[in-house]
Amino acid sequence: MLDGHVALVTGAAGGIGLATAQALAGEGAEVALADLDEARLDEATRTVGPGALAVPLDVTRRESWERAVAAVEGHFGHLSILVNNAGISEPADIETVSDDAWNRHLAVNLTGVCLGMQVAAPALRRARRPAAIVNVASMLSLRPGAPFAAYCASKAGMVALSQSAALHFAETGAGIRVNTVHPGAIRTPMLERYLALDPDRAAAEARFAAVHPLGRVGEAQEVAAAILFLVSPAASFITGAALPVDGGGHIRA
Ligand SMILES: NC(=O)c1ccc[n+]([C@@H]2O[C@H](COP(=O)([O-])OP(=O)(O)OC[C@H]3O[C@@H](n4cnc5c(N)ncnc54)[C@H](O)[C@@H]3O)[C@@H](O)[C@H]2O)c1
Repeated sequence: MLDGHVALVTGAAGGIGLATAQALAGEGAEVALADLDEARLDEATRTVGPGALAVPLDVTRRESWERAVAAVEGHFGHLSILVNNAGISEPADIETVSDDAWNRHLAVNLTGVCLGMQVAAPALRRARRPAAIVNVASMLSLRPGAPFAAYCASKAGMVALSQSAALHFAETGAGIRVNTVHPGAIRTPMLERYLALDPDRAAAEARFAAVHPLGRVGEAQEVAAAILFLVSPAASFITGAALPVDGGGHIRA
């Protein structure tokens, strides 16, 4: 489905980002994996195949984005798919969230996505084929939770930003679609960090599973499949959409 495409996936050293890089490569795309964690990134890139490129990236820094996009264009010749997947999540409600945690959530989950779309836009416009951006939001941006104040706010902001960008690129004839995916609790290192906070890991996983009407946590490959659909020609008339991948969690009473 993606022969001739070149994709840049952020937060690709593990979890949903790595599963996405593998899925895109499996459909014929050339893939650049980007992450802050360079040691894990190199290892992850090897699992995608010899043609994959590892790109060090701190999504919160414009110069880092400029270097990353230039590296991808230099190596593969163009860039046609951007998946803004890098994100952080730490628990804290509105009364306890620290200034530092608030600022970090906004920097990575919101500003990072803004910088990514802005810096990559000229390259995506230059791409030799229809381009697509998918931004990884959360079920919690559709259905907020009290213990995740900064996370919910950053991800909800990212959805509005994505829809604004979708309109802009459509109205300017840029040939760039922008959509968001909204995972529920997905088995990744991020979820593992939450499970590790509870001495009874099995009970903690059961609580996360119960949030989804389908009665289990999701797998990274299930989110990757939704991202693959949204960047593929099968979604050629879809932009500004918010696709939940949460076992029905967003409609739970
Ligand atoms: N796992 C879940 O249950 C879940 C649920 C909803 C949404 N999400 C979202 O999915 C995305 C991927 O999450 P995951 O579960 O795979 O998490 P993860 O922690 O396993 O992976 C996130 C990756 O982002 C990288 N990263 C963090 N800050 C960065 C920065 N400044 N620059 C570049 N890379 C940076 C990390 O090094 C890490 O490799 C995140 O945006 C997350 O908010 C996850």
